Amino acid sequence: MSLKIQTLSGYFHEYQKSVLNPEAFWERIADTFHWKKRWDKVVEWNFEEPKIEWFVNGKLNITENMLDRYLYTAGDRTAIIWEPNDPSEEVRKITYRELFDMVNQFSNTLRANGVGKGDRVIIYMPMVPEAAVAMIACARIGAIHSVVFAGFSSNALADRINDCKAKMVITSDGNFRGAKTIEVKKVVDEALEKTETIEKMIVLKRTGTEVTMQNGRDIWWHDAIKGHEGEAQAESMDAEDMLFILYTSGSTGKPKGVVHTTGGYMVYTYFSFLNVFQYKTGDVFWCSADIGWITGHSYIIYGPLLAGASIVMFEGVPTYPNPGRFWEVVDKHQVNEFYTAPTAIRALQAFGQEPLEPFKLDSLRVLGTVGEPINEEAWHWYHDHVGKGKCPIVDTWWQTETGGILVSPIAGITPTKPSYATLPLPGIQPVIVDNEGRELRGNSVEGNLCIKYPWPGMLRTTYGDHERCKQTYFSSFNGYYFTGDGVKRDEDGYYRILGRVDDVINVSGHRMGTAEVENAINEHPRVIESAVVGYPHNIKGQGIYAFVIADLDDRTVQNLTNEIKVTVNNIIGPIARPDKVQIVPGLPKTRSGKIMRRILRKIASGDTDNFGDTSTLLDPDVVDKIMEGAREIDQ
Ligand code: WT7
Repeated sequence: MSLKIQTLSGYFHEYQKSVLNPEAFWERIADTFHWKKRWDKVVEWNFEEPKIEWFVNGKLNITENMLDRYLYTAGDRTAIIWEPNDPSEEVRKITYRELFDMVNQFSNTLRANGVGKGDRVIIYMPMVPEAAVAMIACARIGAIHSVVFAGFSSNALADRINDCKAKMVITSDGNFRGAKTIEVKKVVDEALEKTETIEKMIVLKRTGTEVTMQNGRDIWWHDAIKGHEGEAQAESMDAEDMLFILYTSGSTGKPKGVVHTTGGYMVYTYFSFLNVFQYKTGDVFWCSADIGWITGHSYIIYGPLLAGASIVMFEGVPTYPNPGRFWEVVDKHQVNEFYTAPTAIRALQAFGQEPLEPFKLDSLRVLGTVGEPINEEAWHWYHDHVGKGKCPIVDTWWQTETGGILVSPIAGITPTKPSYATLPLPGIQPVIVDNEGRELRGNSVEGNLCIKYPWPGMLRTTYGDHERCKQTYFSSFNGYYFTGDGVKRDEDGYYRILGRVDDVINVSGHRMGTAEVENAINEHPRVIESAVVGYPHNIKGQGIYAFVIADLDDRTVQNLTNEIKVTVNNIIGPIARPDKVQIVPGLPKTRSGKIMRRILRKIASGDTDNFGDTSTLLDPDVVDKIMEGAREIDQ
């Protein structure tokens, strides 16, 4: 029987089977892969410790299931179609056989440079095929990759290197991003001044930017790979050996390293990719995310390559050299499934239909979105003008921690509703609980989104700090994995994600902890205290609004707010830069000293009619003063 759901009744049937007998359900899918040794038990788990193990004692190498398995059957099929930042630069097409050779050569290179099973390797690279090669080569030799989005600052990079005690960094001389060239190697050099564990740096030449190579530590990619051709033996990995660490923000100040393991992640990304997008052999799949995020891991690299798909990897940005670029790429490479973020859709929608006009877009069959709730207007624009009314939209809800898509339509099969992620994939058991942790059964309910049964793609721990994993995800509601999202289940049983219920904001589909931004702001020597909240933003979904108590000294307010923005930029990166900074005389605190963020959130969104109960405020007058100041900021 096929692993691909074909009909709506087929979906309900599979779903039911997956709940009645999860082990049999997942075993059937896992059995389609090549294992060096079959598992003894499908799943072993409890959400108290938590302990989650899938395919216990199974041995495998995920890269054999991505590359070796297609060598003889589909070696000449294109694996990667690389579209450069500059449309006049040549496209690169890499077949499965070529990718196999590149990965093997780089695996040998890593080994020759002292990297082996269990070592951590940081990848800080542009969207080029070598970035994919670096990730897959790590997986082949059992090294644990941690990709850091190349827009993060040297401080943020150093924190991540230190947290996982990485041995190697793989980077480039520079990155092309739209009209800009970013000197990436310099950022890494700066980061390495604050770290002690890195022994080697491999540097890909991409922009020709001048760099300083440190003798004995830094090696050019093209020199490093010389003489390392030939097959690299794929390390035998336990199903529960770590595959990668990916850092993500939470409600505390420090990003955490989400850990994914080998066997379960493989099974889950493959299964979800195949079904959600209804991928069929020969299709061209394009996910426009960066490999620095989980979407890039699961739906550019692992899921699609496990399925033998041809993927588009795009180096550039949606608006360069013009806002028709996405559509040009779709036509040029005859993309069948296109997966992007609501923020990109809204940004392009702002240019109207004109940029779309020169393009046919008739290869498109499925459109997807991810990262944040999609507003109805953007949904309709995407559906009508990009999909020409013919392509189902899959609004896919998931998280860095979930490894793959959990709630989503099955393309063309599940009837869609704008702004609804619709129904859980087979194997996923969502529950809605109230603030006391009581499960709300039936339809037409709203509350906190939890999952009550494990699935193979879920996180196993947070690197180096299991207690934190337990506290963050398994302690809020007893016996459940808590997502941090609010959700509604409507009268049809469809799920609509309402956004975060914790102190996390979602800026252009990227998760930001308010505490993390506050910590960065507080680094400015004139800042006394700050409180950060999200507010509705037309393009980004949410913008960052910072209320700051500061000692102006001899600065103007304008100068100080600019300095604060630059500080955040330097400490975290441009994605965390506050959109608005308001200098305030005080913050609305309760008598016990807790900031009432609810009030700040209302002021930031311009919704100041009713603040609810403010009787516990220490100094109610401060609210009026903040409101006055907020009006000035908006002008
Ligand atoms: C948070 C996870 C999953 C990859 C990209 C983001 C929000 C994600 C949706 C969606 C509404 C969504 C949630 C979630 N989110 N997808 N389709 N509809 N909200 O990964 O950085 O781990 O963020 O993004 O709030 O918790 P992430």
